Amino acid sequence: TGGRLLQVTPRQLAKHNTRTDAWLALRGKVYNVTPYFEYHPGGEDELSRGIGRDATELFNEVHKWVNFESMLAKCLVGHLVEDSPTSC
Ligand code: HEM
Repeated sequence: TGGRLLQVTPRQLAKHNTRTDAWLALRGKVYNVTPYFEYHPGGEDELSRGIGRDATELFNEVHKWVNFESMLAKCLVGHLVEDSPTSC
């Protein structure tokens, strides 16, 4: 709501790695997939494999054709960035 997007580091992403607080990164975008768990056709255990991290490779191995960007549009949290960006 509001559309404000976060800059999420891998360290922050890793904190959201439980079934009730589940974020994952796909192709540079970070999603909160917590509300999607019960709808995932591949099941909760499969989706769990990708949470708290960059799941792009895993996602592509299983179903790279799935249009997650439209499916998860409302779950977009922000963008994945480096852990220690140089300040300038
Ligand atoms: C189906 C795994 C994430 C959408 C499946 C299936 C697997 C799987 C194994 C096949 C189930 C079957 O044929 O019985 C995973 C893993 C994920 C992941 C390991 C970790 C990143 C996602 C995400 C979305 C998604 C983020 C969309 C937002 C779907 C859809 C299907 C599916 C639409 C059914 C259609 C198809 O297989 O082409 N998933 N999934 N999955 N998953 Fe995922």
